[in-house]
Amino acid sequence: MNATTHPTPAELTITPRDRRFGREAATPRLWHGGRVEATAIYNALSTTFPRGEAFFVESVRAFRAGAPAKLAEEIKAFTTQEAIHSREHDAFNKRAELSGYDLRKLEAQVEKRLAVTRSKPPIVSLAATMALEHFTAILAHELLADPRHLQGADQETGDLWRWHAVEEIEHKGVAYDTWLHATRHWPRSKRWKVKAKVMLYVTRNFLVDRTAGALELMRQDGVTGFTAWARLLAYLWVQPGMFRKIAGAWLKFFLPGFHPWNEDDRALIRGYTDRQAGQQSGRKVRRAA
Ligand SMILES: [Fe+2]
Ligand SMILES: [Fe+2]
Repeated sequence: MNATTHPTPAELTITPRDRRFGREAATPRLWHGGRVEATAIYNALSTTFPRGEAFFVESVRAFRAGAPAKLAEEIKAFTTQEAIHSREHDAFNKRAELSGYDLRKLEAQVEKRLAVTRSKPPIVSLAATMALEHFTAILAHELLADPRHLQGADQETGDLWRWHAVEEIEHKGVAYDTWLHATRHWPRSKRWKVKAKVMLYVTRNFLVDRTAGALELMRQDGVTGFTAWARLLAYLWVQPGMFRKIAGAWLKFFLPGFHPWNEDDRALIRGYTDRQAGQQSGRKVRRAA
């Protein structure tokens, strides 16, 4: 570890928030402000979560034996959070299907990627999880830091994404710390090489698969060809430009002293918690009036 590394904060507690979204009413098909490309990319992401996050949990838990007590506790809380995320995104995906989308092609692609990784030694699955959890954490950070990403979104669905983002930030160190523990006897150079190689591999697949997935869903909305590409790429890379905006944070992963908590973004979690508390007391006051 070098001087610039900030490990997981000692006083951080990972708190599963067992919430349910969208059970009361149907979700509009184009829930993201009526925009085909915005709805498509978030739906494509959501399609990966139920299977993907179950895979993260299994990959991390395979290395929990012998973990220090604090890490063991964090793995437990991480498992609970991801299990609830899977449940909520599964429910969300079913609502997307009810509104007419066919997600089978996207799901099959997720299965295919996971099968390839599972066919390799368990440490590769842990490395892939650690890389994808960095991805999720920087997406979550950007989503919460800039409200424009969810501007115009259906309230309940926006809430689902904000809740998920908060918990991704909260547990962003778990897979990484498990990786550090599992590879503690490796030379630093080997650790870096595997980490970098796996990150490049999962990034390529992430970009290719999510783009293809979003284009497939746009096709189901009747938007195809050059128009579909142009609208999707503009949305992802220009305005609001989620992928462009996370590029810097993505690059930091390759720095020698990298740790997810070098970026202490707990203020985003506090902001969310405060807003939730404000909304709840607002509801109580209205009920009392
Ligand atoms: Fe998650
Ligand atoms: Fe996660």
